[in-house]
Amino acid sequence: MIAQKSVQEILDTVKVEEVIQDFVNLRRRGVNLIGLCPFHNEKTPSFNVSPSKNIFKCFGCGKGGDAVQFLIEHEHFTFSEALLYIAKKYNIEVEETVVSQEAMAEKQHFESLYIVNQFAADFYQNELFETDRGKSIGKSYFKERGFRDETIRHFGLGFAPNQPDVLTTKAVGMGYNIEFLRSVGLTTQYDRDFFRDRVIFPIHNLSGKIIAFAGRILVKDVKAPKYINSPETEIYNKSKTLYGAFFAKRAIRQEDECILVEGYTDVISLHQSGIENVVASSGTSLTVEQARLIRRYTPNVKILYDGDFAGIKAALRGVDILLEQDLNVRIVLLPDGEDPDSYLQQAGVEAFKTYISQTAQDFIAFKADLLMKEAGNDPVKKAHVIKDIISSIAKIPDPIKRMVYVRECSRIAQVSEQVLVNEMNKLVMQQVNKAVAEKGMPPPTPGELEAAGITQREPVEVKAPDVLVSGDEFQEKDIARILVVGGNEWLDESKQVSVAQYIVSNIEEVLDHFDNALYGRIVREVWALVAAKKPATQQFFLQHEDADIKNFALGALTSPYEYSENWEKKWDIHLRWQKSPETNFEDDSRQALVRFKMRKIEKVLLENRQKIKELSDAGAHEQVIAYMKVLQKLLVMRSELAAQTGAVVLK
Ligand code: UTP
Ligand code: MN
Repeated sequence: MIAQKSVQEILDTVKVEEVIQDFVNLRRRGVNLIGLCPFHNEKTPSFNVSPSKNIFKCFGCGKGGDAVQFLIEHEHFTFSEALLYIAKKYNIEVEETVVSQEAMAEKQHFESLYIVNQFAADFYQNELFETDRGKSIGKSYFKERGFRDETIRHFGLGFAPNQPDVLTTKAVGMGYNIEFLRSVGLTTQYDRDFFRDRVIFPIHNLSGKIIAFAGRILVKDVKAPKYINSPETEIYNKSKTLYGAFFAKRAIRQEDECILVEGYTDVISLHQSGIENVVASSGTSLTVEQARLIRRYTPNVKILYDGDFAGIKAALRGVDILLEQDLNVRIVLLPDGEDPDSYLQQAGVEAFKTYISQTAQDFIAFKADLLMKEAGNDPVKKAHVIKDIISSIAKIPDPIKRMVYVRECSRIAQVSEQVLVNEMNKLVMQQVNKAVAEKGMPPPTPGELEAAGITQREPVEVKAPDVLVSGDEFQEKDIARILVVGGNEWLDESKQVSVAQYIVSNIEEVLDHFDNALYGRIVREVWALVAAKKPATQQFFLQHEDADIKNFALGALTSPYEYSENWEKKWDIHLRWQKSPETNFEDDSRQALVRFKMRKIEKVLLENRQKIKELSDAGAHEQVIAYMKVLQKLLVMRSELAAQTGAVVLK
C-alpha cells in the first residue's frame, strides 16, 4: 500500500496534460488542450484537457476525470498502479506501508497476467545470456543479425530452450498459478511450454507491459512456421497491437511521422540505428484499430516495404485502411529482395536515411503509376485500374485532398477529370449514406454536394444536428452579461488570465460584427479596458455615462443567474481539487463562447454556401475549390463546437 503522504504528494505534483501527452497527441486551443479521443473513434478532436482544472473531458463520448482516472481507463491500471506510474514519471519517492493480506488477494487479474509474462520474459532473457545453449544458439543468432547487447536488453529479447516444460515447471515451483500461465498462452493444455527452441520477442502494450511473445525458429525447418505468436488472450488482441509502439511513441510524436515496416527485426534494427519512430504490422494486413492507433500520434505514415512483387502487393493491400483514417501515406520501396533490416545492414545508416527520404512517394500517385504501367494499353485492364485507384481516393475523408488526388490521377491515367469525379462521387455517396446510417452524423447538405459536383442519386436521410441557436441575440447577451458580472474575476485558479481578457481575446475577430448594438458596445468597451490593462469592474459599468450600458449592468447584476444542472453530476467529473461550479467563471465563459461562436459560424456558413452556389453557377471552378476549402474548415469548426455543446444548457 502506498502511504497517504505519498498519495498526496503524487496528486499534488501530477499535471494531467503531461500524463495524457504520453498517450495522446494534444495541441493548444485557448487555455485548454485538445486532441483525438483515445476512448472512442473520431476524426475531429473533442477530447479536452484543462491544465488549470487538472482534468480531461471528452465531449464526444463523455469520459472525463483526472490524471489517475485517465490511467485507470486508458491503461487498465488499478488506482495504486496509476499512482506508482505517476510517481515514477515525476521521480517521486514512494513510501509504502505494509502490504495487507487482502490487498495481495485484491491484485487485479490482469496484473497477474502481466506479472506471469514478465516472469517468462526474464526467464527467456536469462536463458539467452546465461546458459551455454542460449549463448551459443540464441545470442549468436542475434549477434549475427548485428543486435548489440543493449538493444537485446532494451527490447527484452530472449531464448526459449528446447525442453518440454522447463518454463512451466519453474514458474509453478516459484508459486505462479498455472491457470495464469495457461491464460497467457505460455503453457499449453498439456502443461507443456508453448515456445520451445526459438528466440523470443516480447510484445509490449503502450505502457510497456508484456502482453504476448513471438518466437522465431532458428533451424531451417520447412514444416514449422518461421514465427509463432502467443494466442489471443484477455490482454493480447493482435489486431489492436503494433509491434514496437511502446518504444516508438515518443519519437513518432516528435518526428510527426510513423514509419511502418513488416517485421520485428526491422523495428529493432532501425531503432538500434537511431530511427525510433518505427512500428511493425507483424506481417498481417493492417487493421482499422492499428490505423487509429497511429492516428493518435501522427497523421503521417511512411511505409517501408520490400521492393519485390510480394512486398508491393502487401503494401497495396493495407493502405486503404490508412487512408480511411485520414492518414497521409507515403511509400518507400526498398531495392529488390531487401527488407528494411537487411538494407540498413548493407547500406549503412546515412545511405539508408538518404534513400528513404529521396524515394518516398505519395501513395496514391505510386499506386496509379504502378497499376497503369501494369495495364499497358489494354483498355479493359485500364478501366479496372482506374476504378481501383478511385476507390482508394474515395476513402479519403477530406474532400479537398480528394480533389487534388483526382487531378493527379487524371494526369497519370490520361482520363478526363470529370469522368473520374463522377466515378468517385458514386463511391463517396455510398460511404456518406453508410456513415449516416451507422453514426447518425449530419451528412453534407444537398447544396454542398451540388457545389462539390456531386449529384445525388438517392435521397439522403438528413438528420438535423441539434440546433443551438435559440433566441436571436441570446448568445451576444450572454457574453455581455458575463463580462459585466465577472469580467474582473480570474478565469481559473492559476490567476493568470481574467475573464475579460479570455473572452475578448477569443472573439477579437468579430468585435465589430455584433448584431445587437448595445452588446457590441459593451464588448468593445471591455476590449478597450483590456488593451489599456485596466480592470473591467462592475462599478465601471454601473457608473457608465451611457445610460443603456448602465441599465443593462443594473439588470444583469440584480437578477440571479441560474445554473440549470449540477456541473459535477452532469459531467461525471470528480471535482476533488476544483472550485464549485457556482464560482467557476471559466466554465461559464467557455460555454458562452461556444454558443456565441456557433451562431457566428452558422452565419458565415450560410454566406459561404451562397457564394459557392453563385460561383458554381458561373462555372468558376477554381474559385469554387477555394471556397470549398473554407467550407470544409467551417464545417469542422462547427462540428467541434457542436461536440462541446454537450455541456451547454440552453434556457
Ligand atoms: P519476414 O518473413 O519478413 O520476417 O516476416 P522478418 O521479420 O524479416 O524476420 P527475419 O528477418 O527473417 O528474422 C515479416 C513479419 O511477418 C510475421 C512476423 O511478424 C515477421 O516479423 N510473420 C512472418 C509471422 O508472424 N509468421 C511467419 O511465419 C512469418
Ligand atoms: Mn528480415
